[in-house]
Amino acid sequence: MSKETLTLIDNRTGRSYEIPIQHGTIRAMDLRQIKISEGDFGLMTYDPAFMNTSSCQSKITFIDGEKGILRYRGYPIEELAEKSTYLETAYLVLHGELPSKAELDGWVHDISYHTNIHENIKKFMDGFHHDAHTMGMLVSTVAALSTFYPDAGNIFDAELRRQQTYRLIGKMPTLAAFAYRHRLGMPYAYPDNDLSYTGNFLNMLFKMTELKYKPNPILERALDVLFILHADHEQNCSTNAMRAVGSSHVDPYCAVAAAAAALYGPLHGGANEQVLRMLTELGSKDRVPEFIKKVKAGEGRLMGFGHRVYKNFDPRAKIIKQVADQVFEVTGKNPLLDIALELERIALEDDYFIKRKLYPNVDFYSGIIYQAMGFPVEMFPVLFAIPRTSGWVAQWEEMLLDSEQKIARPRQVYLGAEKREYVPPERRQSA
Ligand code: ACO
Repeated sequence: MSKETLTLIDNRTGRSYEIPIQHGTIRAMDLRQIKISEGDFGLMTYDPAFMNTSSCQSKITFIDGEKGILRYRGYPIEELAEKSTYLETAYLVLHGELPSKAELDGWVHDISYHTNIHENIKKFMDGFHHDAHTMGMLVSTVAALSTFYPDAGNIFDAELRRQQTYRLIGKMPTLAAFAYRHRLGMPYAYPDNDLSYTGNFLNMLFKMTELKYKPNPILERALDVLFILHADHEQNCSTNAMRAVGSSHVDPYCAVAAAAAALYGPLHGGANEQVLRMLTELGSKDRVPEFIKKVKAGEGRLMGFGHRVYKNFDPRAKIIKQVADQVFEVTGKNPLLDIALELERIALEDDYFIKRKLYPNVDFYSGIIYQAMGFPVEMFPVLFAIPRTSGWVAQWEEMLLDSEQKIARPRQVYLGAEKREYVPPERRQSA
């Protein structure tokens, strides 16, 4: 019978070590016993950018990047996108099981009950420059919520954690909508809790003088599906930020602000904004071949293409393409779609992209839909951060309750100067 162990021989000493294998991994700490002398620190692994290191055990999201599989708590993303709602999916991501009808009603009620924000938050918003980026406003104001809920620091009190969860999921759309209206110089529209989660969000964004805002049901559902697709994605850059910052036991508002800041970057959730800017700059299908040539020459990247984990296709990108068709039935086709399709066609036939397994990711088409729905590009990363909040909070809670987790603190390989003596400035030579 095969043994679930790994035998290592250290050629420096000739000693051999047997290390257990569990779930296809070895524990990096098991390497510490491998030493050349008593005083030796022991062997470490070196893995910049976590290319081959699991930082946690998780039961939330499963991805098979080769096969293009994404599941939350075991449920395929395709089925959730077809049959679930964002709030039901958020419940699933957070609790591990789909809710009963009564649990779902209670959950929707509790989230809706927490959509309002303290009036003083509006004063923060007013302090931002008129053209401040909406993501900057969101990151700052979600961090500011920490000062309104000082009991949020009691992170090991399950009831208080539940309270902050309701508040975070309930208030993110309100902060986002207020940031949007601040840029436009429009009066803030308050939450309408008769509406669905996404219906209310559209209300807070787009309500004008009408007494009651009525969201278009197709656009409301399209946004809900996009929110489902963005609810969680295991250990990506922003989730890793949420876990790492949360591991210092800071309150969840500050940890979510850190995660949202990580999401803002153009290589992560900021990519959808960059895709739109890229397509707009291209302006016409004819310029696609010349642009692809430049990308291949290393002059910039094809934004919305490539993924650290998906090396075949991104299942979210497939669903988004279907959503795009439904949205364009209402809004009319976004003229940038033709440029995107041409980019995809040429890239998927090109050796450079085939060899590197570069395919459209979730951000390639989401921006085109958001633009057709009337969102300015600055709102795109914000539209990612709102639904990802449920995933961040679920991952944070899992980290807190995991007895193996401690404050995240990687090691380094020091390659700097050896010990040397301080020399006063007048005796130093310039470098
Ligand atoms: N366009 C052109 N070339 C690319 C692209 C791209 N979009 N992505 C990767 N490559 C090339 C790299 O230049 C590299 O080529 P080389 O081997 O000749 O040096 C090779 O493919 C591997 O790329 P890495 O950067 O090593 O891959 P990594 O896994 O680190 O990066 C990432 C993944 C950041 C997503 C990358 O593909 C990228 O920058 N894509 C564009 C930005 C984007 O769309 N981000 C959104 C990702 S999805 C999300 O966060 C929600």
